[in-house]
Amino acid sequence: MKRHTRIALVLFIVSLAMMIIVSAEPPFSCDSSPYPFCNATLPISERAHDVVLRLTLDEKVLQLVNGAPEIPRLGISAYEWWSEALHGVSRHGKGVRFNGTITASTMFPQVILTAASFDSRLWYRIGQAIGREARAMYNEGQARGLTFWAPNINVLRDPRWGRGQETPGEDPLVVGDYSVSYVRGIQGDTFQGDPDSDHLLASACCKHFIANDLDNWKTANRYNFDAIITQQDMVDTYLPPFRKCVQQGRASGIMCAYNRVNGVPNCADYNLLTKTARQAWSFKGYIASDCDAVAVMHDVQGYSKLPEDAVASVLKAGNVYHDTKLLTQGMDVNCGSYLKKYTKSAVEMNKLTEAEIDRALENSFAVRMRLGLFNGNPKSGIYGNLGPKQVCSEAHHSLALEAARNGIVLLKNSPNILPLSKTETTSIAVIGPNGNTTQTLLGNYEGVACKNITILEALGNYVKDIHFQQGCVDSVNCTSIEIDEAVRVAKVVDFVILVMGLDQSQEREKLDRVELGLPGKQEDLVLAVASAAKKPVLLVLVCGGPVDVSFAKSDARIGSILWAGYPGEAGGSALAEIIFGDHNPGGRLPMTWYPKEFSNIAMTDMRMRPDPSSGYPGRTYRFYNGKTVYEFGYGLSYSTHSYKFIAGPKNKILINLNQALHNTASDDEVLVSGVGVKLCEKVKFTVGVGVQNHGEASNHTVLLYAKWGPKGHFIRQLVGFERLSLGAMERGEVEFVVRPCEHFSSPNEDGLMVIEEGSHSLVVGDEEYTIDIVISYMIDY
Ligand SMILES: *[C@@H]1O[C@H](CO)[C@@H](O)[C@H](O)[C@H]1NC(C)=O
Ligand SMILES: *[C@@H]1O[C@H](CO)[C@@H](O)[C@H](O)[C@H]1NC(C)=O
Ligand SMILES: *[C@@H]1O[C@H](CO)[C@@H](O)[C@H](O)[C@H]1NC(C)=O
Ligand SMILES: *[C@@H]1O[C@H](CO)[C@@H](O)[C@H](O)[C@H]1NC(C)=O
Ligand SMILES: *[C@@H]1O[C@H](CO)[C@@H](O)[C@H](O)[C@H]1NC(C)=O
Ligand SMILES: *[C@@H]1O[C@H](CO)[C@@H](O)[C@H](O)[C@H]1NC(C)=O
Repeated sequence: MKRHTRIALVLFIVSLAMMIIVSAEPPFSCDSSPYPFCNATLPISERAHDVVLRLTLDEKVLQLVNGAPEIPRLGISAYEWWSEALHGVSRHGKGVRFNGTITASTMFPQVILTAASFDSRLWYRIGQAIGREARAMYNEGQARGLTFWAPNINVLRDPRWGRGQETPGEDPLVVGDYSVSYVRGIQGDTFQGDPDSDHLLASACCKHFIANDLDNWKTANRYNFDAIITQQDMVDTYLPPFRKCVQQGRASGIMCAYNRVNGVPNCADYNLLTKTARQAWSFKGYIASDCDAVAVMHDVQGYSKLPEDAVASVLKAGNVYHDTKLLTQGMDVNCGSYLKKYTKSAVEMNKLTEAEIDRALENSFAVRMRLGLFNGNPKSGIYGNLGPKQVCSEAHHSLALEAARNGIVLLKNSPNILPLSKTETTSIAVIGPNGNTTQTLLGNYEGVACKNITILEALGNYVKDIHFQQGCVDSVNCTSIEIDEAVRVAKVVDFVILVMGLDQSQEREKLDRVELGLPGKQEDLVLAVASAAKKPVLLVLVCGGPVDVSFAKSDARIGSILWAGYPGEAGGSALAEIIFGDHNPGGRLPMTWYPKEFSNIAMTDMRMRPDPSSGYPGRTYRFYNGKTVYEFGYGLSYSTHSYKFIAGPKNKILINLNQALHNTASDDEVLVSGVGVKLCEKVKFTVGVGVQNHGEASNHTVLLYAKWGPKGHFIRQLVGFERLSLGAMERGEVEFVVRPCEHFSSPNEDGLMVIEEGSHSLVVGDEEYTIDIVISYMIDY
């Protein structure tokens, strides 16, 4: 063969191979299809209706589970509903693979640490970055779906909960605001109230609806647990984050939880799914079960006699007809295979009609369409330009670094041990089981990180003479310690940093902690090293849930304490920057740190409010009346800040009932001194807070609380949080909008919001501002 013939042949084979690769690309729904459901100019509701109309019962049943197969005769491709993206596109779930062009994704800090930044703009930017990386992976053929089962917005009710790390903490307002930012970010913030004209970047899912905040305690676990919840707690603690996630975040997904609430499994709860989410909150999207939650209703909870009863009760969840039109809706997608197995027989047994299956499928197909997945090749869609370049970009890595920096909380710093001098600190020892790991820094629901840096390596960028001792033989479990080596190193260096805490062997999904102290012999190690060191040491806590470190708080040999959460792929660098003064810490705790004795109370006790008659202390800063190790909102800085209320409103707030009635935009009832009125949400005023920075430049979050007035329902309750950037010695101002009907009201025992006449207070730091609420019945023209 002549040379050029050979080249031609090679080229021919190469192009043949390329053609095979191209044609091996999965077909996309509506690549070329004459059906109305492929017509992108039609409203999505019509298209979803059209596609369901064309399916046989057998085809329909298969579309009810997370692994929805292709329907070749209609040119519909397969879809995987289950993907995860809690704090970055995750390798957990079934939809995403890291085995193509894209081998990693940006790993932001675990959510509990990101929440500690109290910065809703940062949360939004993180959501947006995750959405773009997710879409890029889809465009690259590495995601078989774009429905991500995050955020986890169950309030962190009990410090032992293994999944507390996944949440934005214990405060319903913060958790709700986090959800709004995250959801709007990841979904592309395109929904203007009309799902028919929506262009979702990716789909978020508010989970776990509702009261899923226990994994296992003694014989109780999330499958068999029946959460007994009062109307009062439901209305002001358990529901609000979900309401915000749906109403303000405009989430396109909800996941119903395993557990029962007051006897009813969540996925079959008409009040929850239909009346609350779909009707009261106008939820537009799909509801998925947690994985195997439908099977659990029959197999574990004994709620459903036959598997078919379980299937019928979730798909109906109390369906209501009006003139033969199906008005209300239950669950739509089953994570698992139960609906695949038992839906057809449920129809045959007359427990379910085909129409009831149809309305579930219309919801789920509508979400696939809102994602643009019935418009042919997504690369020609509006997000088609997102690809490998957007994943693990420098911008996203910096955002992960910024989140870790702004989340890390300085818990103790006396006498101003930190920051360390870069010039005078010539040798340090890093001691402890979390000093030389990367995996631990990611937390759970992680992906494959774009970059890794250990705390040890990051500190090595500041000091050359650096020593490491793990100290605990079996990592954080620490059943035995190597004191001699640790003490020997501690004695010779300028400064000692102990990197202790937890990891996923101690707290994770399906594993709640039993105790709140540091595991094993960690305390012994800390104390032995601290007494050997030349100077008071720094204790770094890597953990999601809080730990009782009273021993260190009160011991002068432990000069400083930093809580680093699970700080993500850039967390080591963020920590080193803070330790050496390149960043002034400003994170605040999003949860109460309780003393060890708190673990004497039953984890299964869902009551938020204390019960003096039995000594039950209540839960979270809003209600808990016992001792704390560190309070919600606590966090130091290298500077100090003082506050002053400015430009306050007149101290007397008139709530004019008639005006309130006319100005309402919501259906919620509020009782004003016993008289029911519509939520007077138009009644509001602005309060300004002046903040003086007494030290170096800082980012400082102002937390404004309402302190309960006359009849004491909660101790305090967050009204708002605002982060502001201050130069050295600079003074700044922030403004908060206070809506008395929302911020000074509290539910009565029937779950109706009540506002009391009389004196109420706003509190920031030690400053208090008193407001008198006067109810007026005058008609105001
Ligand atoms: C898509 O729907 C629009 C509106 O009904 C219609 O005018 C148009 O002809 C349809 N396109 C196709 C290809 O059927
Ligand atoms: C990636 O993994 C999936 C599932 O294991 C497999 O189907 C696919 O072929 C893999 N892709 C590559 C490029 O190896
Ligand atoms: C840190 O961990 C890495 C990887 O496990 C190991 O290779 C290295 O030796 C460790 N560094 C020290 C100082 O022990
Ligand atoms: C980061 O660490 C993970 C887990 O240890 C590993 O799979 C991944 O390849 C690492 N990434 C880099 C860039 O080293
Ligand atoms: C930790 O140590 C305890 C004994 O103190 C042991 O029972 C437990 O299995 C260990 N856990 C792990 C994850 O190693
Ligand atoms: C404050 O935060 C912004 C944004 O994260 C950052 O650019 C700036 O450097 C921070 N300032 C200080 C003093 O930490």
